[in-house]
Amino acid sequence: MDNDTKGKRSRKADPELDRVAGHLTILRRVVAADLPVLQAWDDDPEIIALMGRKYAETDVTDWFRSLNRDRTCRIWAIDTQEGQLIGEVELAHLNWRNGSTELRICIGDKNYWSHGYGTDALRAALGAAFDGMGLESVYLRVFITNTRAIRTYEKLGFRRQAILEPSARRQDPAAVLLMNLTRQRWHMKQAQSA
Ligand SMILES: CC(C)(COP(=O)(O)OP(=O)(O)OC[C@H]1O[C@@H](n2cnc3c(N)ncnc32)[C@H](O)[C@@H]1OP(=O)(O)O)[C@@H](O)C(=O)NCCC(=O)NCCS
Repeated sequence: MDNDTKGKRSRKADPELDRVAGHLTILRRVVAADLPVLQAWDDDPEIIALMGRKYAETDVTDWFRSLNRDRTCRIWAIDTQEGQLIGEVELAHLNWRNGSTELRICIGDKNYWSHGYGTDALRAALGAAFDGMGLESVYLRVFITNTRAIRTYEKLGFRRQAILEPSARRQDPAAVLLMNLTRQRWHMKQAQSA
């Protein structure tokens, strides 16, 4: 399949990916009512220490307005099956030509940490990325000290690629681990856990 054909398939599949169901979580479109909660998580020092700030240089409302126009980013709110908003997951820097994207996840509601919700939401988002959007690889950056996140990513098949020096400008608290998951490895992992 050439790149153009892949791109067309991805665009056609877009509305179908507005809602993606996992076992514990449901990924859905972000709505305006979510913004105060997203902003509160972004202002939380414990979350900032784990992943930096998302809206530091922009206003969350401006960001929301630009979402529908932005073809290089797809973001989902993460709900429990009961409909409670607990986090967000994003495919950023979508590069349709080479089929790559950067993954970012935040389970903002700390009551839900370490109960399988992050793994479930990531599995749903990665299924959408590889099977729904036809992407070839997903990469991410994580502070080397964030051992829970690294464990979660490795469970799903991500591999360590490189360690990047902390950025002084971003005031990174630690070195950054670059991880990558290819489509082939994703499918291999899925077959193993079936
Ligand atoms: C990282 C995150 C997505 C993980 O989701 P989660 O729902 O908390 O994690 P899960 O329960 O699905 O899986 C966690 C795994 O790490 C393990 N774990 C928990 N705490 C750990 C720790 N301190 N060190 C190492 N492993 C740990 C768990 O045992 C589990 O592995 P297992 O299934 O083999 O037992 C979520 O905690 C989160 O969003 N945290 C805040 C923001 C953040 O760190 N985002 C990532 C930035 S790159």
